[in-house]
Amino acid sequence: MSDIVLRPAELTDSDRLFQWRNDPQTRAASRKPGGLGRAEHQAWLEDAVSRPDRQLLIAEVDGVAVGTVRADRGDEGCEISWTVAPAARGQGIGQRMVLQLVAQLEGRLWSEVRSGNQASSRIAESAGMRLVEQKEGVKYYVRDAR
Ligand SMILES: CC(C)(COP(=O)(O)OP(=O)(O)OC[C@H]1O[C@@H](n2cnc3c(N)ncnc32)[C@H](O)[C@@H]1OP(=O)(O)O)[C@@H](O)C(=O)NCCC(=O)NCCS
Repeated sequence: MSDIVLRPAELTDSDRLFQWRNDPQTRAASRKPGGLGRAEHQAWLEDAVSRPDRQLLIAEVDGVAVGTVRADRGDEGCEISWTVAPAARGQGIGQRMVLQLVAQLEGRLWSEVRSGNQASSRIAESAGMRLVEQKEGVKYYVRDAR
C-alpha cells in the first residue's frame, strides 16, 4: 500500500470530519456517544485548528483523506485519539497512521479506548502503549516518557 501522509487539518476538512465523527461506529467508540450538530462541530474545528496544544491531523493515501489522528498536549503528556474513515477501515490504516504520529512525539502518551473496541486496543498496543487501568468500560493505555 502507498505511504500515509499526515497533514494538519484545515477548515476545508469540516465536512469529512463531521461525517466521520457522526458515523455510528465512531459515536459508539466515543466518550460522548450522542450525535453532534453542524454548528457545534464547526466551532469545535475552528478552535481545534487554532490552538497550540492540539495537533489535529488528516491522514491521506494517494491524496485521499482516509482518517484523522489527534494529539492533545496537557501537563501529563499527550492524549492520542483517532478515527478512520468508514470506507477505509480494516486495511491497517488506523495502525499505520497512529504509529506514524506517535513516532514523532517525545514524552508520555496516553489513550482511552472503550472496552469492546478491539481494533483500537490493538492500535494502542502496536503504538507502544500498554494497558494500565480499566474502569467503567474504558481501557487506559500509556506510553511512558522516553
Ligand atoms: C477502530 C478503528 C480506528 C480501527 O481502524 P482500522 O484502520 O480499521 O484498523 P486496522 O485495520 O489498522 O486494524 C488494527 C488492528 O485491529 C484489528 N482489527 C481491525 N478491525 C477489527 C475488528 N472489527 N475487531 C477486532 N479486531 C479488529 C486488526 O486485525 C489489527 O490487528 P493486528 O495488528 O493484530 O492485525 C476504526 O474502525 C474506527 O475509526 N472506528 C470508529 C472510531 C473509533 O473507534 N475510534 C477510536 C476510538 S479510541
